[in-house]
Amino acid sequence: MERSEGDKAARVKSMFARIVPRYDLMNRLMTLGLDQRWRQATVTLAGPVDELALDVATGTGDLALRLARRGWRRVVAVDFCSPMLAAASDKIASRGDGARIAFAGADALRLPFAADTFDCVVNAFLLRNVADLGAALREFHRVLRRGGRLVCLDLTHPPAPIKLPLALYRDAIVPLLGAAVGSDFDAYRYLGNSLKPYPDARRLSEFLAQAGFVRVDYRLHGLGAVAIHRGWKG
Ligand SMILES: C[S@@+](CC[C@H](N)C(=O)[O-])C[C@H]1O[C@@H](n2cnc3c(N)ncnc32)[C@H](O)[C@@H]1O
Repeated sequence: MERSEGDKAARVKSMFARIVPRYDLMNRLMTLGLDQRWRQATVTLAGPVDELALDVATGTGDLALRLARRGWRRVVAVDFCSPMLAAASDKIASRGDGARIAFAGADALRLPFAADTFDCVVNAFLLRNVADLGAALREFHRVLRRGGRLVCLDLTHPPAPIKLPLALYRDAIVPLLGAAVGSDFDAYRYLGNSLKPYPDARRLSEFLAQAGFVRVDYRLHGLGAVAIHRGWKG
């Protein structure tokens, strides 16, 4: 049981710092490469290319990279885990895609940006990790300009027919895979645990609406185990 918001943030940060070296490999293996399709769908749902996008919790930078390659003129990519940011900036520099992407250390709950700054805010596999979901969504709403959009990709609670097999895969096989590729058994056990208190896709839409977003919708991917939510700042 977490004692405070700070306890959860510290635990999440140190866990992600431990798994950086094998993070991309594990993502590809455990989703059979589908994670990159889901990120691409997220970038497509971010709508027409515009001036300034924010990728919150960029990790190793895959979403930021896809936004820049799609033509967004400027992408700001933030994360509160410095080793993740270092890996992202090395990866993007090595691919020659760095010119449009700026990296910064920042907490999703306290973004160091003025209100009404971004045309679009995106995040992938962040929301399960934040200590205060409502506060994070309100922060995304604050930094968006009027008419700007939020797109959130994350796991969700799968439908009944695949709930049990998927739980077995996630809670038993994925942690073993993590250990086998030299990553971290406990970090990958966290994956299933992080989903338990997380709202289902319909309830998450309500959280977006409560944070002030309008025209909220979502799409399911991966047999219903993954959701992409969208909302606009009215
Ligand atoms: C599962 S990774 C996802 C990374 C990346 N978005 C992707 O698509 O692979 C979660 C990331 O969220 C970051 N993170 C978690 N909580 C955060 C917070 N409160 N503020 C900023 N970053 C956070 C972690 O450091 C980690 O890099």
